Amino acid sequence: MDNIKNAGTLLPEHDNKIKCSGISYENTACAHRNATDPHGNAAGTRDESYMRLALALAEKGMGHTSPNPMVGAVIVKDGRIIGQGYHERYGEPHAERNALASCTEDPAGATIYVTLEPCCHYGKQPPCTDAIISSGISRVVTGSGDPNPLVAGKGISILSEHGIEVTEHVLKKECDALNEVFFHYITRKKPFVVMKYAMTLDGKIAAHTGNSKWVTGEEARNNVQADRGRYSAIMAGIGTVLKDDPLLTCRIPGRRNPVRIICDSSLRTSLKSRIAATIPEARTIIATCCNDDDLIRTYSDAGFEIIKVNRTDGHLDLNELMDRLYELKIDSILLEGGGKLNWSALKAGIVNKVQAYIAPKLFGGENARTPVEGEGVSDPAGAFRLKDISIRLFGEDLLIEGYTVCLQE
Ligand SMILES: NC(=O)c1ccc[n+]([C@@H]2O[C@H](COP(=O)([O-])OP(=O)(O)OC[C@H]3O[C@@H](n4cnc5c(N)ncnc54)[C@H](OP(=O)(O)O)[C@@H]3O)[C@@H](O)[C@H]2O)c1
Repeated sequence: MDNIKNAGTLLPEHDNKIKCSGISYENTACAHRNATDPHGNAAGTRDESYMRLALALAEKGMGHTSPNPMVGAVIVKDGRIIGQGYHERYGEPHAERNALASCTEDPAGATIYVTLEPCCHYGKQPPCTDAIISSGISRVVTGSGDPNPLVAGKGISILSEHGIEVTEHVLKKECDALNEVFFHYITRKKPFVVMKYAMTLDGKIAAHTGNSKWVTGEEARNNVQADRGRYSAIMAGIGTVLKDDPLLTCRIPGRRNPVRIICDSSLRTSLKSRIAATIPEARTIIATCCNDDDLIRTYSDAGFEIIKVNRTDGHLDLNELMDRLYELKIDSILLEGGGKLNWSALKAGIVNKVQAYIAPKLFGGENARTPVEGEGVSDPAGAFRLKDISIRLFGEDLLIEGYTVCLQE
């Protein structure tokens, strides 16, 4: 995430069509300046600045809390920060408990700023509402509501019932944006899929030879590496795996590797590939329609996990695959497919966000591959559309990102 903030230059907000919706504190600061606050404007601003700190703490958990949300908490007493913490790792204590444990003085009468509504149920950890109530904290300020049906407003009610003053929705937009993966995963019961590709200004993702190293420059590629550390899994088609022999790992020191998923209907992945050679470093799943048990055993023996799904339109069924990955607690996927898999993913309706890196280069070549292929739409009016567009610069390369518009919208 540090890379994103440092390397990504947000273009200025020109009009309503281009919204800078990335997690950029500078650019989104004004959006919720008027968050309702019983203490008036001055307190509102103060609440926002502590919440901003809680957000920065929450981000430190990026890549480690999945499928839990990233959460940060700051405890303030008499204008002094006396404790802070964040949810560091899945299964470990929540932000509120870490912040309470770090307190340098008695938190009784203090305010806790927490980016997500405190939980009130037993999961891998006991309820945070209990810890807050027994600490004597007198005010709780929250950012997002928790969409988890086990919490969903109950955390706030329990705190209020115990006489604790609660202020909700401070920097809600920023807090919601930080956990877009968690919100999607919990409410839709599917992984959040980000379709990412790098193309030239003339719309090619590889030269006509199939060679795609490199389309974009180092800064853009570093941002992709950061995203590989951020999302739970990375998915590619067998076309890309056979052509590029990629590693699909995160090369940023200290970051964990995403789970690698190869869409390979007929089990054609080479056992001599670089992916096969690096299985001890990164959990690797092949999704396939293959029914040949002996062949499947060969891949299992080599360390691959196999997910068998049905065949649809000649290839594996991506919606069925998403259901299976949800069951495996994979909350997010960076889709780094070629044009064939990207088209199928769009058509299947599994893509939530698109990231298009655009390099100021021209490859030409009528047979050079493009980011989305398949049969395509028959009319511009039938185009897949994006909303909430943001634009950032990485060196010379542009990153345009947006969220897919549901067909019902
Ligand atoms: N610049 C970039 O961002 C970028 C990124 C990735 C790739 N590339 C380039 O793209 C080229 C490869 O493109 P590609 O389109 O051949 O590769 P691809 O989209 O990665 O893989 C396509 C293959 O995936 C398999 N597949 C499994 N399930 C599928 C489904 N539901 N829908 C569609 N395909 C499915 C299909 O084979 P089976 O059905 O037999 O399994 C299909 O032939 C290479 O030149 C690579 O360098 C560029």
